[in-house]
Amino acid sequence: EKGIRVSDSAYTNTAAVTSSITFIDGGRGILRYRGYPIEQLARKSHFLESAYLLIYGELPTAQRYDAWSNEVLHHTYLHHDVEHVMSSFRYDSHPMAMLISGFAALGAFAPEANPSLQGQNLYSNAAKGNVEALAQMDKQIMRLIGKAPTLAAATYRNRQGRPFNRPPTGLSYSGTFLYCLDQLSEHQYKPNAVLERALDILFLLHADHEMNCSTATMVHVGSSLVDPYSAVAASCAALYGPLHGGASEAVVRQLIDINGPENVPKFIEQVKRKERNLAGFGHRVYRTTDPRSTIIREVAEQVFSVTGRSKLLDTALALRDAAEKDDYFKSRNLHANVDFFSGIIYQQMGFPLDFYPVLFAVPRVVGWLAHWRQAMLSPSQRIWRPKQIYIGASERDYVDVKQRE
Ligand code: SDX
Repeated sequence: EKGIRVSDSAYTNTAAVTSSITFIDGGRGILRYRGYPIEQLARKSHFLESAYLLIYGELPTAQRYDAWSNEVLHHTYLHHDVEHVMSSFRYDSHPMAMLISGFAALGAFAPEANPSLQGQNLYSNAAKGNVEALAQMDKQIMRLIGKAPTLAAATYRNRQGRPFNRPPTGLSYSGTFLYCLDQLSEHQYKPNAVLERALDILFLLHADHEMNCSTATMVHVGSSLVDPYSAVAASCAALYGPLHGGASEAVVRQLIDINGPENVPKFIEQVKRKERNLAGFGHRVYRTTDPRSTIIREVAEQVFSVTGRSKLLDTALALRDAAEKDDYFKSRNLHANVDFFSGIIYQQMGFPLDFYPVLFAVPRVVGWLAHWRQAMLSPSQRIWRPKQIYIGASERDYVDVKQRE
C-alpha cells in the first residue's frame, strides 16, 4: 500500500543515459571530449574548434572550421527587439536572470522556433534524415552559440546603464565577447593575447561535462520537441543554482569572507562542524581532483603574470592546501573542482562577482546543444518521463470541511 520506501538519494540520481560526446572517469580524474584528453585540447585547441568537435564528433578540417567559425561569428548580432528586451531590466537585476530571459526572447523572435508552425516537426524530420531540416537545426545551433556572448555582454552593459556594443568583425570568439563587454576601460586593463587566450581556455574547459544538472535539463526539456532557444533558457536556469554554475561566485565570496591565509584554519573548522559549505570543493562524479581545476590553476598563474597577484589567490592556495591535507575532506573524497580557481581569475580580470555564472553559461551552451542534437537525431528519441515511486497516502474518502479538525 505505502509503496517501496525509497532512500532520498533516489531523488538525486536519474537513470543512466548513453552518449558518445564526453567521457569522465571520476575515480582517475579523466575527462575527454569525443576521446580527446582535456589536457591536450586545452593546450593545442581553442574554444570554437572544440565546440565543433563536441557537436559534430570530429576535429574540423581547416575548410570546415572556417565555414563554421564564420557562420557562428556572423550570428553574434542581436535583433533590435531582443536588445530592447535586454535593456528593459532594472540595473540591479542578476545577470543570469537577464540571460535566461535573453535566450527565451530569441525563441520568441525566431519564427522557425514555433513548434506549432512547424507542421511535421523540424527535429523529427531531421532525425529521419531530411537534409533541409538538419541544416535548419544546425543553423539554430550556430545562432545560439554566436548570440550567447552578445547576450551575456548585454546583461553586463545593462547593469552599467550603458548602450550595447555591436559585435565587431575579425576578432576571435573570446575577443568578440571582451569587445562587447567593453569593460576594459572601466578596469584600466587592455585586452591582450594572454587574457584573451586565458578566457578561451576557460570557455573550452567549461564547454561540456556529460550529463550534469543543466545538460540533463536541456535534453529533458528538448525531448518534448520544443525549440532549442527555449530549452537553452531552461538549462541556463538550472546552471544559475549555487550548487551548480553559481559555485564560482560562492568561492570568491567565501575567499573574501576568509580574508587571508591566516584565517583559513578557522574556516576549515567551521566546515568540519558543518556550519559552512566549502564552495569549489566536491563533485558528484569526481572522487579525485577535477582535471579542469588543475589546468585552470595554471591559467591563473598566466593571468596573474599580467594583472599581478592578489590576496584572494594566496588565500585560495592556502585553503586548497589545507583542505586537501585534512582527513575530513580526504575521507569524503572532496577535492577542488572546476569552480575553485575560475572565480579568482574572473575577479582578477575585473568581472563583477555575480557575472561568473554567466561566464560558465556562455561556453556551456555548446555542451547543451551537443547533447540536444545527439538526442534529437537518435532513432529512439522519446519524451522524457522519469519513473516515480508513490509513497503518499493510501486511498481515502473526501471529508466535509465541517468534519475536519
Ligand atoms: C559543477 O555535475 C557536473 O558535472 C557539474 C559541473 C559541470 O561541469 O557541469 O562539474 C559543475 O557544478 C561543479 C560543482 C560546483 N558546486 C560546488 O562547488 C558547491 C560545493 N560542492 C557541493 O555542495 C557538493 O560537493 C556537490 C553539490 C558538488 C556534490 O554534492 P553531493 O554529491 O551531494 O555530495 P556528497 O553526497 O558526495 O557529499 C558527501 C559528504 C557529505 O558529508 P556527510 O553527510 O558524509 O558527513 O561530503 C560533504 C557532504 O555534506 N560535502 C561537503 C561538500 N561537498 C560535499 N562538505 C563541505 N563542503 C562541500 N563542498
